[in-house]
Amino acid sequence: RKKMVKICCIGAGYVGGPTMAVIALKCPSIEVVVVDISVPRITAWNSEQLPIYEPGLDEVVEQCRGKNLFFSTNVEKHVSEADIIFVSVNTPTKTLGLGAGKAADLTYWESAARMIADVSKSDKIVVEKSTVPVKTAEAIERILTHNSKGIKFQILSNPEFLAEGTAVWDLFNPDRVLIGGRETPDGQKAIQALKKVYANWVPEERILTTNLWSAELSKLAANALLAQRISSINAMSALCEATGADVSQVSHAVGKDSRIGPKFLNASVGFGGSCFQKDILNLVYICECNGLAEVADYWKQVIKVNDYQKNRFVNRIVSSMFNTVSGKKIGVLGFAFKKDTGDTRETPAIDVCKGLLGDMARLSIYDPQVTDDQIQKDLTMNKFDWDHPVHLQPMSPIDIKQVSVVWDAYEAAKDAHGLCILTEWDEFKILDYQRIFDNMQKPAFVFDGCNVVNVGELREIGFIVYSIGKPMDPWFKDMPAMA
Ligand code: NAD
Ligand code: UDX
Repeated sequence: RKKMVKICCIGAGYVGGPTMAVIALKCPSIEVVVVDISVPRITAWNSEQLPIYEPGLDEVVEQCRGKNLFFSTNVEKHVSEADIIFVSVNTPTKTLGLGAGKAADLTYWESAARMIADVSKSDKIVVEKSTVPVKTAEAIERILTHNSKGIKFQILSNPEFLAEGTAVWDLFNPDRVLIGGRETPDGQKAIQALKKVYANWVPEERILTTNLWSAELSKLAANALLAQRISSINAMSALCEATGADVSQVSHAVGKDSRIGPKFLNASVGFGGSCFQKDILNLVYICECNGLAEVADYWKQVIKVNDYQKNRFVNRIVSSMFNTVSGKKIGVLGFAFKKDTGDTRETPAIDVCKGLLGDMARLSIYDPQVTDDQIQKDLTMNKFDWDHPVHLQPMSPIDIKQVSVVWDAYEAAKDAHGLCILTEWDEFKILDYQRIFDNMQKPAFVFDGCNVVNVGELREIGFIVYSIGKPMDPWFKDMPAMA
């Protein structure tokens, strides 16, 4: 084999872009080209305004773009020239046909694999970077070998564990890099080649190698376990509200147990993001296909609790405002699924806003990183359609009139009856809540879905405050029974 020098990554998204930028930065002797079929995405990667917001990413891209990092729409050329091809295309939940609403849609993956088979003229290592169902490597192997002209392909599974908002940090300091491959001499050789890339900056003991199926399943398992912690603490938050316990105190006390650990125990309005729900549904589907109904039901419950948490929040708002929000203005602070990202995929804000719109509220939404266009699009899309632009079915235009998007938290709150906080942006902690209170309708409500505000201080100002899992304001206790 010739000396490995060229990497091509198919898919210039939240994973492909940052991951490849960091590989280019840490491996100056490797040429990295990120390709995508989306012209606007590639244009943005080549501009001053990158297509995704990630702290620290601009600096990394600036240091290597044009040197050993390139973004291109010439997919076939760069795939054919590469030694290692990462596939980091989207793998959303299927919306139609067999397994709809659960199974992973591998359309994009399969078309990438067929294209690789078509254009390759030399041996390649093909790396699954996307999160895929267990055994996908086998399917990909079949596509590649049945369509190739005597070229050798080695498939590796190298799932990505970065979280959005901290992607650059996570890539610089991964807890582990996981590489799965075939247990054959060629498979092991391919593992070593990829390991060598990461060894440029990741300590050897953090690079784990496994068989293909363990690597594929570990990714689904990690996301399922992380999401399960959130659903567990969110389930506790409901019990806290019923009993007078404070969920922050409970998670602090519980997290002190070194076997449990303190991270990922923050109660919230529910988890969002493009991964957790999709990957658990995928896991559930795989369990069902393998006849493991009990296992499937166990993981399904993590999503059920997450949906329950979002519904509970909406019900709380409506019932505390005299059982109707019809025609009332409600300010919404935060729309992204977490702070430090502009990503809105599966953000709980979509469900909460849709719930309030269903009760005919008027919404005024502010998020420091999400555009008006994106919010309007998200609120008029059906579940799971965000990653399937082909079957978009807009809701009726009347719903859109109920929503305005503003560029300032004070504007969102002005004349509002209630204020919902749906993303834990740091700037929401230091707002002038007295000024907000003075400009709101009375009684003025705050519904904090991310434990951002100081409940005591806000009650002092005169707000009626609901904060998930915190001891309840007497107001809510006196309200008629609700969910
Ligand atoms: P994304 O939608 O941001 O990016 C995918 C890109 O692939 C898009 O730009 C799309 O145009 C492109 N694409 C699709 N088919 C193509 C083809 N045939 N040829 C060329 N380009 C093509 O998705 P993402 O968030 O980067 O996620 C990618 C994968 O990584 C998913 O499987 C996801 O589950 C996984 N993952 C995501 C995260 C995350 O935080 N977003 C973390 C870990 C793993
Ligand atoms: C997740 C995984 O963390 C990452 O390893 C994987 O590669 C992709 O999926 P991401 O979705 O980007 O990353 O962000 P994450 O920080 O995990 O947050 C996901 C959601 O959970 C957010 O909506 C966040 O607000 C919520 N969350 C997180 C909580 O509600 N409570 C917590 O304690 C932690």
